Amino acid sequence: MADKIYIFDTTLRDGEQSPGAALSILEKLEIARQLEKLNVDIIEAGFPVSSPAQFEAVKRIAGEINVVIAALARAKEIDIKAAWDSICNAEKPRIHTFSSTSDYHIMGKFGSDQYGRSIQEKRETVLKMSHDSVAYAKSFCDDVEFSAEDAGRTDIGYLADIIETAIDAGATTVNIPDTTGYTMPFEYAAKIAELRKRVKNIDKAIISVHCHNDLGLAVANSLAALDSGARQVECTINGIGERAGNASLEEIVMALKVRKDLFDYFTDINAKDIYNTSRMVSGFTGMIVQPNKAIVGANAFAHESGIHQDGMLKNRETYEIMIPEEVGVVKTTMVLGRHSGRHGLKARLEELGYTLDNKELDRIYDLFTKLSDKKKEVFDDDLRTLMGDQVFKEDNYYILEDMQVHLGTNAIPTAAIKLKIGDEVIQESATGDGPVSAVFNAFERILNMEFMIENYQVRSVTSGREALGEALLRIKADGQSYNGRGVSTDVVEASAKAFLVALNQMKKPQAVLV
Ligand code: KIV
Ligand code: ZN
Repeated sequence: MADKIYIFDTTLRDGEQSPGAALSILEKLEIARQLEKLNVDIIEAGFPVSSPAQFEAVKRIAGEINVVIAALARAKEIDIKAAWDSICNAEKPRIHTFSSTSDYHIMGKFGSDQYGRSIQEKRETVLKMSHDSVAYAKSFCDDVEFSAEDAGRTDIGYLADIIETAIDAGATTVNIPDTTGYTMPFEYAAKIAELRKRVKNIDKAIISVHCHNDLGLAVANSLAALDSGARQVECTINGIGERAGNASLEEIVMALKVRKDLFDYFTDINAKDIYNTSRMVSGFTGMIVQPNKAIVGANAFAHESGIHQDGMLKNRETYEIMIPEEVGVVKTTMVLGRHSGRHGLKARLEELGYTLDNKELDRIYDLFTKLSDKKKEVFDDDLRTLMGDQVFKEDNYYILEDMQVHLGTNAIPTAAIKLKIGDEVIQESATGDGPVSAVFNAFERILNMEFMIENYQVRSVTSGREALGEALLRIKADGQSYNGRGVSTDVVEASAKAFLVALNQMKKPQAVLV
């Protein structure tokens, strides 16, 4: 009989660690609802000890979503307690604790003598910490996952000892992460096979894999590990994650499905929900899916050359190994416009995977009517982008009351900004090399601060003259970076909104690890 592969989605934890992908609590909740529809087995909802916002997001997801909810914790009591407090109301809670196990990580994180003088002594300390953290987590929760961070570069003998110890202490899932995306598929598969031989109690836990994509091998490594006996795979939507990202959920699921002749495994994923989930994550994180991305990229099912088109018309299978509808890519002819009412908007958003209460619907309807005044036809991607706009940005400290920009071929670009800060409204104007820099300069004047623009990109979301423009921005002040994203049919306004979102990030409690 075919074996089930458990899909552990870490979009909201490792995925959110992607540079620039900060999500609000409501956005996380909305993504978690969509992941539940997609039918993932485990959602890693966050790293609760790292900030009050992380804690709150995990707690709200745990209170509402009925799949296993995992919370991440370092091998420290304070982390494990925070993780438990955030998920204790979940139907199916899991504490996920981890220790660094490669010599690189041990020397980097436990270099001081307090953890032992030699590497051998330090390894002993980490072994004990791993045991104690799993045992402590187990005192709260039956379902405990242990990860050996940087297992990909960890000595196999020591890794086997650590894993055996974690299982002895009560771990029910043991994760072997290729944290740095260093291993080759055959090497990683051999490591899993070797652990199955060496670890005496391995049959008491599920082996999990968690691969990063630094060499572009995260999916290949994950599949190779499944073939060696791993039965849980950790992945993210669109493959987002630290640095080059994590293994992509949609690629793993579809590889197992399309090549079931080779893999005698199955997942419980509702593949038809893949596309909507991908678009929702992209919309909320502002992380654009590259057009040639497998499964969910805009070109994944596009056939350009005449020979390919001809072949496709005669027989689809000539060039297609899966049909777009299987992953929820449907050619929609439905467009909304000025005359579409609230009901039509709500129905379309629900079809795209969003659940809105009346208050949220009021806000998005307001944005939608403003957009449809400027733009005759509103497409699905416009709606997704609106959903990723300020709809879900709650508790803003800075509010843009008004903005005026003046430019001309022979005039110096000038911007005037009226900003509400608490109860006060401050107005300033400034000039710049162009309208966008004039706007940014006006913000700086109001706040009497200087920001470094670390990253600034503008793109159009849909095609056509009145396309929505999206601005992505990263600013830096006092050594800390903040991300913002704004959309509008006017790119200067989109840029101002992005600046404002970044400013509001600055006012939110930042992640502080103790
Ligand atoms: O990449 C990694 O090792 C991790 C662990 C915390 C599981 O994300
Ligand atoms: Zn990771």
